[in-house]
Amino acid sequence: MISDAMKFKAFRVSERTLNGKTEYAGEVADRAVGDLPAGEVLIKVQFSSLNYKDALSASGNRGVTRQYPHTPGIDAAGEVATSSTPRFCAGDSVLVTGYDLGMNTAGGFAEFIRVPSNWVIPIPTGLSVRDAMILGTAGLTAGLCVEKLILNGISAEQGEVLVTGATGGVGAISVALLAKLGFTVIACTGKPDQESFLRSIGAASVIDRQTLSEASPRTLQKERWTGAIDVAGGQLLRNIITSLRYGGSVACCGLVDSPTFEASVFPFILRGVNLLGIDSVNLSIEHKARIWEKFATEWRLPNLERMALEIRLQDLPAALGTLQKGRGVGRTLLNVSRTSNPSATSK
Ligand SMILES: NC(=O)c1ccc[n+]([C@@H]2O[C@H](COP(=O)([O-])OP(=O)(O)OC[C@H]3O[C@@H](n4cnc5c(N)ncnc54)[C@H](OP(=O)(O)O)[C@@H]3O)[C@@H](O)[C@H]2O)c1
Repeated sequence: MISDAMKFKAFRVSERTLNGKTEYAGEVADRAVGDLPAGEVLIKVQFSSLNYKDALSASGNRGVTRQYPHTPGIDAAGEVATSSTPRFCAGDSVLVTGYDLGMNTAGGFAEFIRVPSNWVIPIPTGLSVRDAMILGTAGLTAGLCVEKLILNGISAEQGEVLVTGATGGVGAISVALLAKLGFTVIACTGKPDQESFLRSIGAASVIDRQTLSEASPRTLQKERWTGAIDVAGGQLLRNIITSLRYGGSVACCGLVDSPTFEASVFPFILRGVNLLGIDSVNLSIEHKARIWEKFATEWRLPNLERMALEIRLQDLPAALGTLQKGRGVGRTLLNVSRTSNPSATSK
């Protein structure tokens, strides 16, 4: 029986101002179930995962999180502890990604979350709770990008598909998924030393990010890519748009380089290229569930564990710092109830 007084562990980020400078720091703290926001489903979290947005929340980005102290974690998966709706029963394996989780609602970097039932997705047969969080928001986003490219006519026979930020979460799962579906994947990375990792998850070749980031005054460049998945924005996105082949498409999902980019209409009106927007956060629950079902069946990835580095709650400050500096490789999986050193399960 779970009471409001029951204590659990959570990673809490607090703000403090010293000499006019505001700083943000996180630590593992005790919370009570009664501290959690209202919601129909209380979930005992087994795994969460780290996404770029968590690093923003943990470092005081007000566009992500308005009030501190706060528990980040935009992903969570585990077992239903209690449910006030008949749609879920205690013991069901479920996941939550996006909506307000980890932004202004206490998130998955904790042993419990409480959320509205319309945020909760049953984990489909074929995926474990652990698999679900190795994928997490990054996987869902990669899946949405691939789905939209295919809906816009990109097929495996047509040529090369570029993935930027290829060693990152969205990037690595995009590489692996596109390769599984038979695409020739060109991985663009700022970490050339990770070439063997990128090839091991399916990249046909690897390009140094710098060569694709150079400013060019040309409104059209040599046609190279049939399709692309871009997490960067900025100059990289501009260069991709001007290098898409006739009728090609780029799925735009991130801003790790810049939230803005310069463009002209020429690639659109002379080559008929498409700029496809991707949102994994406020997407309908039905659409999210369809993507998860695909990852459990025809999109099942054989190399998920190769992409995963498992950490504990107390490892979060270092792991979030690594992600914020763009130095992460693959997916960082948070085992919330683990206290011993998980290095035995890291890649
Ligand atoms: N639209 C959505 O719904 C949605 C969902 C999830 C994520 N996102 C966004 O997608 C982006 C990636 O998220 P993530 O969770 O995959 O982050 P991540 O795991 O931290 O990966 C980001 C990767 O981008 C590359 N990178 C870093 N700095 C860069 C720069 N200045 N220019 C170009 N590339 C750079 C690095 O990979 P390399 O060293 O291999 O280049 C880095 O590992 C973020 O902007 C995030 O907000 C959007």
